Amino acid sequence: MIIQSRIRENMGSSRCFSWLLILSVILQGVTLEVRGLACNWGSRASHPLPARIAVQLLKDNGFDKVKLFEADPEPLKALGHSGIQVMVGIPNELLLPLASSIQAAVNWVSQNVSSFISSYGVDIRYVAVGNEPFLKAYKDMFVKTTFPALQNIQAALIKAGLGQRVKATVPLNGDVYQTDSGLPSGGDFRADIHNLMISIIKFLSNNGAPLTVNIYPFLSLDADPNFPVEFAFFDGAASPVVDGSITYTNVLEANFDTLISALEKNGFGSMPVIIGEVGWPSDGTPNANIQNARRFNQGLLNRIFSSKGTPKRPSPPDIYLFALIDEDTKSVDPGNFERHWGIFYYDGTIKYPLNMTNGKSLVPAKGVKYLSRHWCVMSPQASLSDPNLPGATTYACTYADCTSLGYGSSCGNLDARSNASYAFNMYYQTKDQREGACSFNNLTVLTAIDPSRDGCRFEIMISNSTHGKTPTAGTSSRGKHVPSLLVLLHVLTLIFYGMY
Ligand SMILES: *[C@@H]1O[C@H](CO)[C@@H](O)[C@H](O)[C@H]1NC(C)=O
Ligand SMILES: *[C@@H]1O[C@H](CO)[C@@H](O)[C@H](O)[C@H]1NC(C)=O
Ligand SMILES: *[C@@H]1O[C@H](CO)[C@@H](O)[C@H](O)[C@H]1NC(C)=O
Ligand SMILES: *[C@@H]1O[C@H](CO)[C@@H](O)[C@H](O)[C@H]1NC(C)=O
Ligand SMILES: *[C@@H]1O[C@H](CO)[C@@H](O)[C@H](O)[C@H]1NC(C)=O
Repeated sequence: MIIQSRIRENMGSSRCFSWLLILSVILQGVTLEVRGLACNWGSRASHPLPARIAVQLLKDNGFDKVKLFEADPEPLKALGHSGIQVMVGIPNELLLPLASSIQAAVNWVSQNVSSFISSYGVDIRYVAVGNEPFLKAYKDMFVKTTFPALQNIQAALIKAGLGQRVKATVPLNGDVYQTDSGLPSGGDFRADIHNLMISIIKFLSNNGAPLTVNIYPFLSLDADPNFPVEFAFFDGAASPVVDGSITYTNVLEANFDTLISALEKNGFGSMPVIIGEVGWPSDGTPNANIQNARRFNQGLLNRIFSSKGTPKRPSPPDIYLFALIDEDTKSVDPGNFERHWGIFYYDGTIKYPLNMTNGKSLVPAKGVKYLSRHWCVMSPQASLSDPNLPGATTYACTYADCTSLGYGSSCGNLDARSNASYAFNMYYQTKDQREGACSFNNLTVLTAIDPSRDGCRFEIMISNSTHGKTPTAGTSSRGKHVPSLLVLLHVLTLIFYGMY
């Protein structure tokens, strides 16, 4: 009701409206100039990029907004006085305690928001309450706690005097909405959480907060062998989907407008929406490769730079690219690609060229210190038929990230010796080249010759001792995260079963 009367008030004064129109045209012109970039920065890595280097990486590449998955002190401190706006996340595990106690929410805001704003000058603008809590894969685990947690955090923000400055939102997975007609105009919220979604949206709206949704064309493509590949990209090469007077040539627009239709249908047509995550991984499965990642992300960036909205929402949403850097300790439950979403490798080196704002190219991380240039490889004396070999490589890959070795991945074409070398080296580097980390029953030797080839990177890890201040805080909680991307965009599958 409140929303609807507000809309009517705005529409009522037509003189005011035409001035607003002129003003917004002018402002859009201005926005074109200054519009920045937003991205997600996760830290589930065995060797996280030191926070101050990562913040410089953000600045050098024109990012002025960043989303963190939890209140990691080191990244937050490094973001202080950086000119970068911050969305700080609350992991799903905290939803229950925060829902159960207003005092817990007050403490969370005090420790994780107020103190960073006042003591470190961090420009926190949003708190993301939970991460895709209504994913079907979670089997309703967070359905009862998300809304009360949101309410308590909002109340705590107001109590802390931050009600205007910091908005609480909930990053939702794309499967909270769907379309029965198979077209974006048929969009509505999932039946099992329909009332809950309406309550949350009403609450967000009353507090002047946006709705946040994650959209993953890659997952649509990866989950459905019949998905029309071109429709995942932005080059207009796909056979269009015609929805009444609107023609869709890419799935991001179709998906986003499905949400807008759902909002319209329920009386929230002007609800502001943020895209909290969107991107394309570069490794781990055949569709996740450098070419596709570059193509998708460049197309996405070009849309952002040209302030392009969607047919139903011409004003562009804030879009948080997923992600800044790779994270080698993320859960691979969603797939091996999960560790390869970065536009940069884990160490801030460039994966593929991208045209950034004003035609500038990507700038890599500066001042990164590495372990010594030594790789652990299979010894030339060792035999492929050595009975210890399978056990040794399995062991290495249990404690290190071997997701690039899979079928269709960047190191998937290595011969058996190089494949084993890759596993041994990953273990050796992950263990910080520790003494004894390259001795697998005499199967291995150290070499100073880089075994990398044809797009397959034999890593040398970042040294965590020579960057000055060691980023230790936050390391301990890293293993506990719940996988965030078990997303199957049912809406998209529906659209394409309907269309093709
Ligand atoms: C602040 O956030 C961290 C990271 O999510 C969490 O471990 C900690 O418990 C929070 N503080 C409070 C007082 O809840
Ligand atoms: C980047 O910009 C240059 C110069 O404008 C252009 O030649 C090149 O094709 C662009 N690359 C991509 C991937 O868009
Ligand atoms: C490569 O290594 C992985 C992990 O150890 C293993 O599963 C796979 O079978 C190996 N492939 C070849 C061709 O040796
Ligand atoms: C490794 O090689 C050394 C020297 O050839 C030998 O003495 C030792 O027993 C070997 N160790 C294993 C575990 O095979
Ligand atoms: C790197 O940090 C880990 C813990 O985070 C520690 O166990 C290891 O010894 C450190 N390595 C170096 C070379 O300092």
